[in-house]
Amino acid sequence: MSASTVVDQDASGAFAERMLGALNEASLVIMTSVGHRTGLFDALDANPDTTSMELAEAANLNERYVREWLAAMTTGRVVEFAPATGRYRLPPEHAVWLTRRASPDNLAVAAQFIPVTATVEDDIVHAFRNGGGVPYERYARFHEVMAEESAQTVGSVLFTHILPLVPGLEERLEQGIRVADLGCGRGASLLALARRFPQSSFTGYDFSADTVEYARARAADEGADNLTYEVRDLTTFDADATPESFDFITTFDAVHDQADPLALLTGIRRALAEDGIYLMQDIAGSSHVHENLEHPGGTFLYTVSCMHCMPVSLEQGGEGLGTLWGEQKARELLEAAGFESVEISQLEHDPFNAYYVVRP
Ligand SMILES: C[S@@+](CC[C@H](N)C(=O)[O-])C[C@H]1O[C@@H](n2cnc3c(N)ncnc32)[C@H](O)[C@@H]1O
Repeated sequence: MSASTVVDQDASGAFAERMLGALNEASLVIMTSVGHRTGLFDALDANPDTTSMELAEAANLNERYVREWLAAMTTGRVVEFAPATGRYRLPPEHAVWLTRRASPDNLAVAAQFIPVTATVEDDIVHAFRNGGGVPYERYARFHEVMAEESAQTVGSVLFTHILPLVPGLEERLEQGIRVADLGCGRGASLLALARRFPQSSFTGYDFSADTVEYARARAADEGADNLTYEVRDLTTFDADATPESFDFITTFDAVHDQADPLALLTGIRRALAEDGIYLMQDIAGSSHVHENLEHPGGTFLYTVSCMHCMPVSLEQGGEGLGTLWGEQKARELLEAAGFESVEISQLEHDPFNAYYVVRP
């Protein structure tokens, strides 16, 4: 055995321990997703010292499943258990990160991305061997979870923190301008803007017919008549965008997983009025993996990338930029698309996203 293959026993033991820990933490994330979807965290929060039977009744769930979930949560140190009384408790310090009342800080919402991406594991393994990608439709609940996460990261601070990133924008929206949101998903941000600024007109584009239908239904429910959603594939937006048709364009987490991000950005430049503004929310980070070692969500984001953002782009014959395409690549593409001014900020509540205020 050469010197370079000698295994440091201490380092090896520590690594094995870490991987066993990862097994537990990964399991906890799946149980966290289940706890969110079944309403168990909220029920625990509302019923401070509870037995599994009382909790099951309160949440209207099967007691045997609830008890097993509680066991995982107890060994995972999320829930406390008192053997003498058989009662469980969610400490308030944990409840403020795991319950619906904790939103926009509810980390259980993001936990759902792990099981959502795992639904396509077979397709991903196939793509590792054969190339290609995975279409959006294969991901169970993707749009639902994305909309829930977006309500936390974007919706909760849209008026208080995001619009103020662009001085004078609110006044222009009040007077009446033309706004578009590209890759709008279920469209909640656009709907909120449309309701707040009745003098302005709003258009949302997304290629998912189901999501557009959902967005339209919600807009109709709320009586927003200054808002339209259209099913549109943005892959050729560089060629088919109508010149100077919008004054304010937004994309929320919708550039990096496109088939052709540069075509989208070039189309946005073309569709924007000369005094227009493009606001791009996209994942914060470096384009270089070695510069993301200290990223608070590095492994999570590269995993979501490998399991979703990259394959959905590759499936469209795209380049598969990946979730952590990073600031350097984003600047390069924005410049190539013809934009001259780019200002980047981050908001305190959201270490995962950056906000690019971009002008022609
Ligand atoms: C990560 S999701 C973000 C959705 C939404 N903006 C949000 O923040 O909740 C990206 C969205 O882009 C849409 N999309 C992806 N490729 C597209 C394409 N080629 N044309 C139009 N929409 C596309 C997807 O359907 C999806 O709704």
